[in-house]
Amino acid sequence: MNTPLPQPIDHSARYRQHLLACGFQPKPASAWDARAAQSSWKRRHDDYSEAFLARLDLTGIATVLDVGCGPGLLSLPVAAQVEQVHALDYSSGMLDGLRAAIARDGVGNVTPWPLSWTDDWQAVPRCDLAIASRSLMVPDLEAALRRLDAHALQRACITFATGPRAGVTELAELLGREWVPMPDHRYPINMLLDMGREPQVDYLPESVRDLDQDGDGLVRQAVDLFGALDEDEQDRVRAWHARSPQHRFGMAPTRRWAFIQWATDC
Ligand SMILES: C[S@@+](CC[C@H](N)C(=O)[O-])C[C@H]1O[C@@H](n2cnc3c(N)ncnc32)[C@H](O)[C@@H]1O
Repeated sequence: MNTPLPQPIDHSARYRQHLLACGFQPKPASAWDARAAQSSWKRRHDDYSEAFLARLDLTGIATVLDVGCGPGLLSLPVAAQVEQVHALDYSSGMLDGLRAAIARDGVGNVTPWPLSWTDDWQAVPRCDLAIASRSLMVPDLEAALRRLDAHALQRACITFATGPRAGVTELAELLGREWVPMPDHRYPINMLLDMGREPQVDYLPESVRDLDQDGDGLVRQAVDLFGALDEDEQDRVRAWHARSPQHRFGMAPTRRWAFIQWATDC
C-alpha cells in the first residue's frame, strides 16, 4: 500500500495556537508610547540598525514603506538614500519621537502615518520596498505579511525573532515557571513559502548583552517574561543576576533576529 502524502500544514492556524499557548496578549499602542518615552532608543539599538542596514538592498529603490517604524531608527537613515519614506506606526509616542528627529535634522522626505497593521492603508502609497523591522508580533501574522507584500512593488523585508537568549530557560527553572517560547521565524518563512514567495534568510549577529543592566532591570524583564513575581522570587532573580555578568538580557531577550527578504514582483 502506498503511503499517503501528509496533510498540508496550516501555518497560520498553528501560529495562532502557539500565541494562545504563550498567553500572548497584543500590546496596546499605549504600551509602546511608554517605551518611546524612555530616552536613548537610538543609542541602545545602534548595533541592530547597523546590521539591518548592511543587509538591506536599496538598489533601484526610490520609495520605502516602514511599518512599525518606531522613532525612525531605520526610516531616517534609509531616507538619506531614497526619494521618499512612508513611516507607519500606531503609537503616537513613537511617532512624536520620529517627528522630533525629522524637525531636528531637517528631513524633508519622511511622511509619518499614525496607522496600525489592521487599519485602512488605502491613503498610503504603495512603495518599491516595504519593511517591517521587529514589529510583527501581531495576532494575525499571515494577514500582516500579505498586507506588507501587497504594498511592496518590488521587494519586502522583515526581521523576526529566532529564539530566546541563553539564560531565559535557566531563569524559568529557577523560578519554577513554565515558559513557552514565543513563535519564531519559522512561521513567517513557511507562510511566505505558502504565499508563493521565495524568502531569503539571513541572521543578524547575536544582540549585545547590556552588561550594565542592574538587578532591578532584570527583575522588570523577568516580569515581562513570566508574569508578576513575589518578593522571594524577585530576590532569587537578583541573586541570579549577581552570580554572573552573563546573567543579563539587556534590551531584548531575543538571541538574534532573522532577516528575511523576498521579491514581490515575480
Ligand atoms: C520594537 S519596535 C521596532 C521599531 C523599529 N521598526 C525598529 O526596528 O527599531 C516595534 C514597533 O512596532 C510598533 N507596532 C507594534 N504593533 C503595531 C501595530 N499593530 N500596528 C502598528 N505598529 C505597531 C510599535 O509601536 C513600535 O514602534
